[in-house]
Amino acid sequence: MKLLAKTFFGLEPALAAEWEALGAKEIVVLKRAVLAEGDTELLYRSNLELRTALRILTPLAEFECPQESDFYQAVYDFPWEQYLHVDGTLAVDAVSNSELFRHSKFLALRTKDAIVDRFRDRLGRRPNVDTDWPDLRINVHVRDRVCTLSLDSSGRSLHKRGYRASQVAAPINEVLAAGMLMEAGYPDDRPLFDPMCGSGTILTEAALMASSSAPQLGNLNFGFQRWPDFEAGLWDRLVGEARERVHPLRQPIRGADRDGRALRSAAQNLRRCGFGAEVQLDRADFFRQQPPFDGGLLVMNPPYDERLGIKDIQGFYREIGATFKHRYAGYSAWIISSNFEALQAIGLRPGKKLTLFNGALECRYLQFELYAGSKKPSKS
Ligand SMILES: C[S@@+](CC[C@H](N)C(=O)[O-])C[C@H]1O[C@@H](n2cnc3c(N)ncnc32)[C@H](O)[C@@H]1O
Repeated sequence: MKLLAKTFFGLEPALAAEWEALGAKEIVVLKRAVLAEGDTELLYRSNLELRTALRILTPLAEFECPQESDFYQAVYDFPWEQYLHVDGTLAVDAVSNSELFRHSKFLALRTKDAIVDRFRDRLGRRPNVDTDWPDLRINVHVRDRVCTLSLDSSGRSLHKRGYRASQVAAPINEVLAAGMLMEAGYPDDRPLFDPMCGSGTILTEAALMASSSAPQLGNLNFGFQRWPDFEAGLWDRLVGEARERVHPLRQPIRGADRDGRALRSAAQNLRRCGFGAEVQLDRADFFRQQPPFDGGLLVMNPPYDERLGIKDIQGFYREIGATFKHRYAGYSAWIISSNFEALQAIGLRPGKKLTLFNGALECRYLQFELYAGSKKPSKS
């Protein structure tokens, strides 16, 4: 079957690589999504194991709809009884990039109407809507005059790993954090440090990766488990195999923050994944702290002066640059921010530069290779 994994802008290559490693075939990289082919086992494993996917859809039908009435009829004609019991519940998520439907909500409503009308006409009864946790979550996408109907096998966003007990201001999305780590080449044999760890999302995702823990082992609820063709035996085997693969961390992971409340939140999140003892957290100011390792990987998500205000944001980033330069020789440092001017103030020339989005904020994700005695001032 065809599978479509959704992701954030910029993480498509990381997702394609992850999926290939899981055995996906015929991979096509799209914008904010990756298309592949696979069987039921791959569908289940994709939901359980992909770190950079937000949802896995299974496209069911694609058709042309010159007019809105054609759309209604095509949805009505689809054999929905094969996928949903009349006493079950449904929800429709819709995205419209078409003149036919100017509002995605209206598209969702027309889709739902066509489905329930079919049930009512045939069986005298209709399934109910449950937007939170339906038996069947349907995804409809209209681009120009082409409509794609898909089932949402995840049933929820896969960034909800089940470990976020509490959070502080401006946490980064779990899927984005995992993608940032992958882009930085993690996991490998380097120790990892996040000096402004906040609620510890980067650390927790890193610990999950470095221990080969499937990201969803803490939240084993998926839409496909409510489908009529759900294969419970196959699923139990895949979850069992994923649990067996988990191993202790082989390289240290350390976090720090100057805010004690943020650190308590990070500790709680890490404990919920079983890394409470394995990941060390320190209350420290990055500008005064000594590096925890002689060298390694540093990944940070500092304040951007958007959600977390900083008085002199340029000065703050200038100090990050100076700290990198004077203390962090031997590190590969990655930093994400939506504040491009502040990033310039770091004053070092990035080795790599990626565009990612943190929610609606367009960000740059920059890498600085920090060699002892060979720092070049920025030209840009
Ligand atoms: C955008 S938040 C990080 C969010 C984190 N990635 C998460 O997912 O929760 C930035 C963090 O930097 C911390 N911070 C700001 N200045 C700092 C400094 N000089 N030293 C250490 N931490 C600092 C703040 O306390 C805040 O927790």
